[in-house]
Amino acid sequence: MLKPLDAAVRRPAIGRMAAFFAVAVGLGAGLNAYAADAAAGGEKAKAVCGACHGVDGNGVATFPDYPRLAGQHEEYLVQALKQYKSGARKNAVMAGMAQPLSVQDIENVAAWFASQTGPLKVIR
Ligand code: HEC
Repeated sequence: MLKPLDAAVRRPAIGRMAAFFAVAVGLGAGLNAYAADAAAGGEKAKAVCGACHGVDGNGVATFPDYPRLAGQHEEYLVQALKQYKSGARKNAVMAGMAQPLSVQDIENVAAWFASQTGPLKVIR
């Protein structure tokens, strides 16, 4: 008599696991739709940001006092750009740069600059 009970107990558990994985896979697909695309961010950096920050985020000789972005925390870069865009962080130059960026653009450029190497280090 243990066998049928065992099976009855296990089957719903398997069903729940299947449901869990279905949700997990669904979430994964959802996340991928918004995942940062560092290569696209690199294109944006080449076209726009590089003139002042360097395409690799290590600065340019023309503007030695402009901040280095290479190796900065990705979340920090996202936050800073969103704040320039909203006006929460005020800088006339960066307000103009951040305004046309979509949330996806912001995530892409942040992923690009965070993945570049330079003297800034993320301490883990
Ligand atoms: C015309 C020059 C110029 C261009 C082009 C430019 N920036 Fe900036 N950026 C600056 C200056 C100047 C600052 C410092 C502003 C401040 O003090 O808040 C800055 C600051 C930043 C910061 C904050 C850095 C920190 O350490 O807090 C980020 C992030 C940033 N820029 C990203 C970008 C991105 C991404 C682009 C391209 C879409 C871009 N910038 C294009 C001049 C520029």
